[in-house]
Amino acid sequence: MDAMTLLHERSSMGKLCSPAPDADQLDAIYRAALRAPDHKELTPWRFIEFSGEGLNRLGELFAEAEFHNNPHIDDAALNAARKKPLRAPMIIAVVAKITPDQPKVPPLEQSLSAGCAAHGMLLAAQALGLGAMWRTGHYAFDPTVKKGLGLGEHDELVAFLYLGQMGGRHKPLPERDPADFVERWN
Ligand SMILES: Cc1cc2nc3c(=O)[nH]c(=O)nc-3n(C[C@H](O)[C@H](O)[C@H](O)COP(=O)(O)O)c2cc1C
Repeated sequence: MDAMTLLHERSSMGKLCSPAPDADQLDAIYRAALRAPDHKELTPWRFIEFSGEGLNRLGELFAEAEFHNNPHIDDAALNAARKKPLRAPMIIAVVAKITPDQPKVPPLEQSLSAGCAAHGMLLAAQALGLGAMWRTGHYAFDPTVKKGLGLGEHDELVAFLYLGQMGGRHKPLPERDPADFVERWN
């Protein structure tokens, strides 16, 4: 697939099957992330890869977060939280590792750079014929989840990238006209 087609046709895939991306595919995906634009070369990105038992551990953390937020939560809701990560054979959490007092690169720019890394990973996954979907849900902002994943006080969890083999077809791409989004000062 040529680069422009990939950029114009990237599309999420929520239905994802085993196997997880293999080692070579993951290397290519991470290398795409590491080319994110990066002001002052802070490399403000960290990746936590979950597969196999790791997905269950992430699910336990989601359930722990739910319980912490509502000690009266019922078992069905806790089990639903536990199962969330099992929607794919692999999840990669993308963390913005924030340097808080950087004079030239405010935290927002560092988070944006991590977002670009996540986008690069989506594009790389699609180029490799894999399916991928960027999710956050409320868990990405939950203090119990962030602490359980070892995030620092200022860090942000910008993405849970769900990855795997395509389990269905891409939905039709929306028709969007650049003219609706662009203002020109000539
Ligand atoms: C920061 C961010 C967080 C997102 N979180 C979720 C999410 O939690 N659940 C979800 O269904 N979609 C989420 N999305 C949207 C999907 O990843 C996807 O972009 C959307 O469904 C549109 O599909 P498309 O990527 O094929 O255009 C998120 C997107 C971004 C950029």
